[in-house]
Amino acid sequence: MTGPTANLLITGARLIDPATGTDAIGDLAISDGLVVADAPAGAERIDGRGLVVTPGFCDLHAHLRQPGRDGAETIESGCRAAARGGFTTICAMPNTDPAIDSAEAVSRAVAAGAGGACRVRIIGAASVRRAGREMADLAAMAAAGAVAVSDDGCAVSGAMARETFERVAAAGLLLIEHAEDPSLVAGGVMRAGPTAVRLGLPGWPPAAELTTVERDLALAGTTRARLHLTHLSCAASIEAVRGARARGVAVTCDVTPHHLSMADDWVAGSRRFAWDEERAPDPALAFDGRCRVNPPLASRADALALLAAVADGTIDSIATDHAPHPVERKLAPFASAAPGLIGLETALSLGLAAVEAGRLALPALVAAMSTRPAAIIGEARSLAVGATADIVAFDPAARWRVDATTLESASSNTPLLGMELPGVVRLTVGDGRITYRS
Ligand code: DOR
Repeated sequence: MTGPTANLLITGARLIDPATGTDAIGDLAISDGLVVADAPAGAERIDGRGLVVTPGFCDLHAHLRQPGRDGAETIESGCRAAARGGFTTICAMPNTDPAIDSAEAVSRAVAAGAGGACRVRIIGAASVRRAGREMADLAAMAAAGAVAVSDDGCAVSGAMARETFERVAAAGLLLIEHAEDPSLVAGGVMRAGPTAVRLGLPGWPPAAELTTVERDLALAGTTRARLHLTHLSCAASIEAVRGARARGVAVTCDVTPHHLSMADDWVAGSRRFAWDEERAPDPALAFDGRCRVNPPLASRADALALLAAVADGTIDSIATDHAPHPVERKLAPFASAAPGLIGLETALSLGLAAVEAGRLALPALVAAMSTRPAAIIGEARSLAVGATADIVAFDPAARWRVDATTLESASSNTPLLGMELPGVVRLTVGDGRITYRS
């Protein structure tokens, strides 16, 4: 990571550290990139009143598009977007072009990811070219530094699932699974339900996610492979996770900020959050390709159930699924628009909007964005004296307008453009270095 080494004293901030159970007003001193008890002479003083200081955020699911689609994002621009969003680690998915599906490709990606404004961890593909026909060499990719494997964009194919779980278990790896059965999606482009019927768009049933979740939980149970279910979008999937955990299955899971906050009425032109009062959608905003994402935006009831599962700790992590796409791939008719939206710079704000609405406690949001995802990939995070400074300081009350011209990401595909959101990151320190400040 690049940036000046931090020598700072942040005074009077709200320090929230899930690692030590801290939630108190206090000072944080950093000397030569380490958290210390007393600030060094000459340390820069930052008035932290009104700021919240927490461990740096860790995103288990981001798309950096390099190699192959660096018009949409580069490692460098993605890292800048991450640092602006308070992230100090992002895990890059392997659905690049070519896919990151070998030890050599992992090594190249690890080297390319060093030296940006954020720590980049690499996820290797589970199958060669992510095609679901031939196993990638998982053990070799792990040895080359992959923190997990995934065929994200697709689930591990049925034909390969058993062997994949066995090899993941043998290599002591983590499988990050995009749960989707394409035979049940069958051309669906938005969540099946009344809104899809009204708009005349083909529906994507929750069963397409749930059947893969159930399959994977069964395989994780028998193989003892570590399974992480990413971007869950259905209340029924959360129930399945709860049931499997009760049976002793080691499974973790995440949800995206957009699945928590935006329901399928956004496709009809609504711009209210899932917890807001019912408001008539704006027909002029209907069929906006920027609302197309896989899995699709959920029903309002499912979005609220996902949020409740973050609040009660069932969902381990909020992961962005930051999916940059160029404008022309989003300005298409809804059913032809590329699925995915950017999320690194808006994740904290969407979480804080849920906190403001009384749906989520701030410490639970912080844990789901920092210590809990970091622990899943074996990274420590703490504000305790002696720890490497890896922190974010943000103003939860400040507001900003999402504006394509000021985003650090090379893409601006989000339906949040033009909206005013709470939460401005003032300072990000990753691995002892200042990676962002505003
Ligand atoms: O909407 C999505 N976009 N879902 C995925 O799983 C992949 C992602 C992408 O790579 O654009």
